[in-house]
Order: sequence, then C-alpha cells, then structure tokens
Amino acid sequence: MVNQFIREVRRRFQRLEGNIYLIETAMFGNEQQYINRCLQTAKVSTIGEEVSQLEKSVAKRLRVKYAVATSSGTAALHLSLMVCGVRMDDLVITQPFTFIATANAIQHAGAQPAFVDIDRSTLGLCPDALSRFLDTETRMVQSFCFHRQSGKRISACMPVHTFGHPGRMLEIIDICQQYNIKVVEDAAEGLGSRLNNESDGSLGDFGVISFNGNKIVT
Ligand SMILES: Cc1ncc(COP(=O)(O)O)c(C=O)c1O
Repeated sequence: MVNQFIREVRRRFQRLEGNIYLIETAMFGNEQQYINRCLQTAKVSTIGEEVSQLEKSVAKRLRVKYAVATSSGTAALHLSLMVCGVRMDDLVITQPFTFIATANAIQHAGAQPAFVDIDRSTLGLCPDALSRFLDTETRMVQSFCFHRQSGKRISACMPVHTFGHPGRMLEIIDICQQYNIKVVEDAAEGLGSRLNNESDGSLGDFGVISFNGNKIVT
C-alpha cells in the first residue's frame, strides 16, 4: 500500500518536473556570492553573519522562539535527545519507516529505538498505534514511563514528517504528555511544510530540519 502511494507521488511529480536527482544540489541563486563573502571574511566556521541570519530566518519562518544551527540534522537529533534528558539504555519511540539517521541518532544518545507503526494517511507515526503501545506495554513509576517487558525507561518519542508530509503531531504530543515523554520532531525533510498553519518541526519540545544537499531547500 505504502509502496503504491510512493510510486504514484513519483509518477505525478515526474510528469510535472522531469527527473529529480537526489544527489544534485540546485544552485540557482546567490550561493556563489555568499560563499565568496564567507571566504573573504574568513568566517568559514560554525559562526558568522550567514549562520546567525539563517537561525533568525528559520525561527521566523517556523514561528518558533529559537533556531540553532548544528553541523547536520543527525547531530541536531542527537543533541535534542540529550537535552531532553535521554539517558544510556532508555528507549526512544520512533517509526520504522524513515531514513536511518533517525534511529542512528537514538543510538548515538546511548538509547534504543522502540518502533511503533506509521499510518496510511501521513506515512508518519500513527497516534492510534502509539496510544495502543503505551496503554498495553508500559507502566508509570514515579511519573516516568517504563516498558514492561524490558524494564527500560521511555524518555522520548521521535516522530518523522515523512517526505515532509506533516505528521499527526498534535495528537502525538497530547498522548506523549500523558506519559511524560518528550517529543523531538524529525522534520529533516519538512522545511516549508505546514498543517493548519503550523510548520513541521515547530510543535514538539524540539524540531529538527536538515540542510543536507538532498533536502528540499537545496
Ligand atoms: C528523516 C530524516 N532524518 C534525519 C536525516 C538526517 O539529516 P542530515 O543528513 O542533515 O544529517 C535525514 C536526511 O538525511 C532524514 O531524511
């Protein structure tokens, strides 16, 4: 079913636009000029005018308080989990249908992914499956959520806006709040997507977007 859906999207897209090469970064604007400016000011670093401007414009566009540039989306997912208090041997809920970086970031934080299924309408984490999983397979101890079978603490949930298609974030956040679970939105593919005027990545405790050369803005 999901494969069929993806093929259909691709077929429609090709008819409109021709081939879209994943590995080719499109540079139609002032990129060369900006790169030259960085070289001229010797600010080829994690700081500099361009970085601050990017942070400001992303925060404005997503209507969030702060945006912080990191070296990659994967690093940002990892850092977000650490700031959420994810510890060694915790479980972090995520979806099996995603790019490998989602699960990698969880492992980088020393935790393990607990996979919950996606739904057909969004291809993102299914709130009904999430609710079922938490209702039947966990118990609360001193306001923390523990997985019954493994005894591990579930400290965070990382839903993905698959292909940038907005996930059912409000429902997911509502469920997670009931179990004291932090939400890190993997909106790596979601820059520019909105649902009911809420941008991908703007609702959870943290939201991550990626500027990898294969992403929408590049
Ligand atoms: C869903 C998803 N999560 C995370 C990442 C990681 O982002 P980055 O390549 O910037 O590390 C990507 C893309 O690469 C992605 O598609």
